[in-house]
Amino acid sequence: MKPLFCSMTLTALLAAADPAAIEKGRAEEKRVCVACHGLRIIHIQRLNRGQWDREITKMVGWGTVVKEREALLEYLVASYGDDKPAAPLARSQDGTQKP
Ligand code: HEC
Repeated sequence: MKPLFCSMTLTALLAAADPAAIEKGRAEEKRVCVACHGLRIIHIQRLNRGQWDREITKMVGWGTVVKEREALLEYLVASYGDDKPAAPLARSQDGTQKP
């Protein structure tokens, strides 16, 4: 029983996102991801880890220079993972949805 409990605890710890890495990733996003578009196009996504990884690769392919890739990935998965509730729709003042 005990070894099983220990390995489960370890797994939980490994899976838990590191707050320092998340903050580093948030800073990296602010620094490099705003050169071509706003943050909203990123923040409305709900992707799993593999999808976020491919998304970063896609942006790098278009010339984005990412220095803190691991931290950025941690931040994106922790904040905009596919386990998070859908992003609220953007609405104009009169309540009609923005394009
Ligand atoms: C070199 C310019 C450029 C930079 C810098 C850039 N992007 Fe993009 N990004 C684009 C373009 C162009 C699109 C629209 C592509 C389309 O319409 O499919 C886009 C779209 C997106 C989308 C919407 C989904 C998609 O693939 O179309 C996400 C998410 C995204 N970018 C994430 C990021 C992240 C995260 C970063 C920072 C690591 C970043 N982008 C930096 C050019 C860039």
